Amino acid sequence: MSEATGKTWGGRFTGPTNPDVEAYTASIAVDARLWPYDIRASQAHARMLGRQGIIPVEDATQIIEALATVAEDFAAERIVFRQELEDVHTHVEARLAELVGAETAGRLHTARSRNDQVATDLRLYLKDAVAATMTRVRALQAALLELAEGHADAAMPGYTHMQRAQPVLFAHHLLAYVEMLERDAARFRDCRARADDLPLGSGALAGVPYPLDREGVAQELGFARVTANSIDAVSDRDFVVEYHAAAALCGVHLSRLSEELVLWCGGEFAFASPDDGYATGSSIMPQKKNPDVAELARAKSGALIGNLVAALTLLKGLPLAYNRDLQEDKPALFASIDALGATLTVLAGMVATLRIDEGRMRAAAAGGFALATDLADLLVRRGVPFREAHGIVGAVVRHAEETGRGLGDLTLEELRRFSALFDEEALRLDLDTALAARDVPGGTAPKRVRAALQAARQRLSAAQEEG
Ligand code: ARG
Repeated sequence: MSEATGKTWGGRFTGPTNPDVEAYTASIAVDARLWPYDIRASQAHARMLGRQGIIPVEDATQIIEALATVAEDFAAERIVFRQELEDVHTHVEARLAELVGAETAGRLHTARSRNDQVATDLRLYLKDAVAATMTRVRALQAALLELAEGHADAAMPGYTHMQRAQPVLFAHHLLAYVEMLERDAARFRDCRARADDLPLGSGALAGVPYPLDREGVAQELGFARVTANSIDAVSDRDFVVEYHAAAALCGVHLSRLSEELVLWCGGEFAFASPDDGYATGSSIMPQKKNPDVAELARAKSGALIGNLVAALTLLKGLPLAYNRDLQEDKPALFASIDALGATLTVLAGMVATLRIDEGRMRAAAAGGFALATDLADLLVRRGVPFREAHGIVGAVVRHAEETGRGLGDLTLEELRRFSALFDEEALRLDLDTALAARDVPGGTAPKRVRAALQAARQRLSAAQEEG
């Protein structure tokens, strides 16, 4: 520490730091959450320095033990954050110096820079954060799957352009979200795999003039590899961008689910209602039971997208190697990790407790013109080209609409006015025949959906076991 500035870097300074600058540059309020990782990485570094004879083994041992005490102090919130100490790394080191003396503590930073230190801490943190995110993705998948299994035979209208299009099974619709989340999980796994390089040993940017055992440190800290280029290692935040990208897309999926939950829970659809525990009321309208959870989840995706753009923009045009700009990678990253985690958890709870009105959904699926495509397909089976059949049924629909009826209300006689090929089978067309007919891989036929539910359940169990 320098006399004039009280800073780890103050040796070449004679005057104190301006208080505004101190407040502006300090990051402890944000990066304090990195302390467990800073301590683990510092212990591994000290152990390696001792093992390699770079610092005395007794000093290394003393540092490692004292760092455990520093960890206890952080966990018990006994560390008082001081802006003039800048960041989490210097807070750890300052407390260490109180415990073992400045001379011994001063050896820890041998062959290390905060630049490779912060990159290491952040990668360690991110790998854990990804694991936590994935656990929550799996929990939401489980909730969706359980809801689907609990209503395995329920039919609902499938929509295009927000118009009733063709009937589908409710379970089939829910499984669409399970698939989206499966891709999200794969993207997070991929992000973690690429974050799995150890930067420590890169120094400020050029490497360090000591005989390090980087592989040993990587092994102790659970990294798969050591970084290949010291300049890249201290400048690279691709892993941050990759988390944001995966989180933003996952957030978009959640917002689509949320939008549907809002619609289903509204009076116009009334397909579902939220459990009391997952709904909120109105301060003026006593009748209200609002799906605020889904609305907030829909909204949070905006910040997740914004944070991705912020991270990309932070890196755009940044020259090599470390620049202080990189300190600004953390607020948005932590915000996205927190927001996505909370959203996944609360949506899983809302889905798990959602009440479904199967009767209303079925009535909506059966009514109107949802079976028009099936009527056209019947003509196709009688030899009519599909385009022609489409035109014939279009005219039938217009006729039904003009006379204020649904397709199912028309007589065979009426149908025959549009095509002589209509027969009794046209009258037997209903919701269940329409569903059963979609018997292709990935289709909504009940037997296909039953198999898909089983496959999804097996895949989820395997993923949850794997962790
Ligand atoms: N707190 C900084 C960060 O988050 C690490 C310190 C590096 N500072 C520096 N002046 N080289 O990036």
